[in-house]
Order: sequence, then C-alpha cells, then structure tokens
Amino acid sequence: MYLLEFGGEDDAFAAREARSAATGVEGIAPGLAVARTVVPERVRGLAYTHRASELLGRGNADLESARAILEAASIDREGSVAVRATDVHGSSGVSTETAERELGQVLVDRGFSVDLEEPDHLLRVAFSAGALEYDGDDGVLESVANDTDDPAGEQVSVCALGWLEAESVRDFGTRAPTDKPFFQPGSMDPLLARAVANVAGARPGATILDPMCGTGGVLVEAGLVGADVIGTDAQAKMAEGARENLLSFLERDEPSPTGVSRGSWHVGRGDATRLPLADDAVDGVVFDAPYGRQSKIETHRLADLVSGALEEAHRVAPRAVVIADRSWAGAARAAGWELESTFERRVHRSLTRYVMVLERRSP
Ligand SMILES: C[S@@+](CC[C@H](N)C(=O)[O-])C[C@H]1O[C@@H](n2cnc3c(N)ncnc32)[C@H](O)[C@@H]1O
Repeated sequence: MYLLEFGGEDDAFAAREARSAATGVEGIAPGLAVARTVVPERVRGLAYTHRASELLGRGNADLESARAILEAASIDREGSVAVRATDVHGSSGVSTETAERELGQVLVDRGFSVDLEEPDHLLRVAFSAGALEYDGDDGVLESVANDTDDPAGEQVSVCALGWLEAESVRDFGTRAPTDKPFFQPGSMDPLLARAVANVAGARPGATILDPMCGTGGVLVEAGLVGADVIGTDAQAKMAEGARENLLSFLERDEPSPTGVSRGSWHVGRGDATRLPLADDAVDGVVFDAPYGRQSKIETHRLADLVSGALEEAHRVAPRAVVIADRSWAGAARAAGWELESTFERRVHRSLTRYVMVLERRSP
C-alpha cells in the first residue's frame, strides 16, 4: 500500500488525477489517500499529488500513535534516514518539529543513522484531522459532502507513515501563463492543465487532442509528461501563438523535468466541430469551452459549439475531459458520452468551474 499526499483544495479531483498514476486510490483524511499500487515515473508528473510513499502504517492523528506504529513496524531497509512530518492544513495541532525529532530517535534506537541532507530513506509522517469529503476506490468517486444523510462527511483523525517512493516535480511556476512567449487572458493555469491532461490519459505513447487549444496550455503539460499532442483553434492568432508556446516548451532534446522525452506536437487552425481527423485518431480529448463572456466565439452559438465539439470528440477518442463555466452534462450525454465523474469548484463569486470526465458509453 502507498500513502498519497495531495496539494490544493479539491481532494476528490486530486484523487481522480492520482488514478492516472495509481490503482485503488481511496481517501483516508483531508489531503491524504492510500493507493494499492503506484507508478513512480507517473507520480513525478502529477499536479495535485505531491508525494507517494510506501505505507508503514496508520493510526490516530497524535504523536503517541505515530510512535507506536514506527516502533512496531518491520523495516527491511539499510542506510541513513531522515523524518519529515506534515500537519495537513494545521488540522491536527501536532508539532511537526517534535514529531520529526521523536520519530527520528525511534529510528536511531532501531540502529539507523540520521542524515538530514541526503538520507538513503526518507520517512514521511502525515497528520490530518477533519471531515472526509469524498470517498472512492477503483470505481466512482463520490462526494460524501453532497450526501444528505451525512452532509459534513465522516470526521476522521489520521496519522500515516511511509517511506518516500516518488515526488511530483513542482516546476509549474516556471510556466505561468503570463510568462509564456504567447499569452492571452483566459489561459489555463499549468497545474489544472497538467491535471486534466493526466486525467485524459496523457503519457508516453498516447496522443492527446485539444480542439480549442487557445494558447496551448493543456498541450504543453500533456507534452511534458510524454504525450504526443494535437491542437486546433478557430482563431489563426491562437493557433500561431500556441505554436510559439509549444516550440518553446516541447522542442528540446533533453528529457522533460519529469524524466520522459517530450511528445511531438502539431497545431493548426481548425473548427472543433469539424475536426480534420479520422475516427479514433487519438486517445483522449481535452477542451476548455469558451466561457461566453471571455472568449470570442467564432461561427457558432456557444451551445451549438460545445455540442458539436462533444460529438466530434466522441468520434475521435474514447475519453474526454471538458472544463467549462457550467455543466454541459446534457449535451455530453446527447453526444453519446457517459459521465464518469464531475468536479465542481467555485473559483470566485461569479465563476464556478466544472470539470467533466467523459467515457464513451459501452455499446
Ligand atoms: C477558453 S479558450 C481555451 C484556453 C486554453 N485552454 C488556454 O490555456 O489558452 C477557448 C478557445 O476556443 C476557441 N474556439 C472558439 N470557437 C472555436 C471553434 N469552433 N473551433 C475551435 N476553437 C474554437 C477560441 O478561439 C479560444 O481560443
């Protein structure tokens, strides 16, 4: 088993993204989940999971519990160690400094040497208390916060200990939309772009299409985790700008920071409702539907545009992830999609963001 430490505010969405790099993902406390298996190379490319550790044990969110787990655990490792503790959102009130010192002492008592700079093994200790707002395993993620019988979610108090196995590369700040060669208002932030690319199936050997690519934010992130990417946009200016951004981030010989070869890329001017692609040409589609008030809509009314794009996506790929300022669930079903999951997040007073994960309905 593995311990996953999430970042960000939306654990259900983080868990969904983590499923692109792990199996059996199940939330155990705010900010924490366990997984049955993980693929370390893919964890490196996750946006909302910071670390995956080989689970040693879990108990209540207090130091006595953590100590008892560590004293009882069988440890088949040799070399130097260090302990790093975290108190998720400051929710448990446990002093992480004291935890690191005391648990480090337990390891010293068990014969390990401590090396805080470059340990051979890093023990992660996470404390978290609060309402578990979602639940899930290999199947569907359910938001228990929406459960009328238990509106607040189950109250939990957890500490979990594990040996660090893989960390995600936190270089998203180097790709802030405003710092890219081509910037337009409405560009997607690289964290969300990476997460939706991962959910759509971005990885080496997969091809991901963004038929309304704008500045190419999703394509850059999908390419950095090794996917081959294709983009179209109705505006020539956007297609040209996306090309500039992809050239800047994907056209390099060295492996990407996540350790994989950057994917190939193709961008052209095109209409998302009439894609110049064969049936089943790609593995996943991602698009960020225009928000009406924000993006210039060419040729179609917004509803026609989204419906047409959903139909075309369904023709060319078995999976799609759609980001929008409203739920397009009805249009998605009408286009033949099954809603695998939906995530809803209030961004500010007048904007709620919806992320819909769509799977082709089985015949
Ligand atoms: C919300 S923006 C996408 C932003 C993008 N994710 C980014 O990070 O820059 C929507 C894009 O859809 C494009 N668009 C509008 N109608 C289109 C159509 N019929 N076909 C393709 N693209 C279209 C717009 O030009 C705009 O660039």
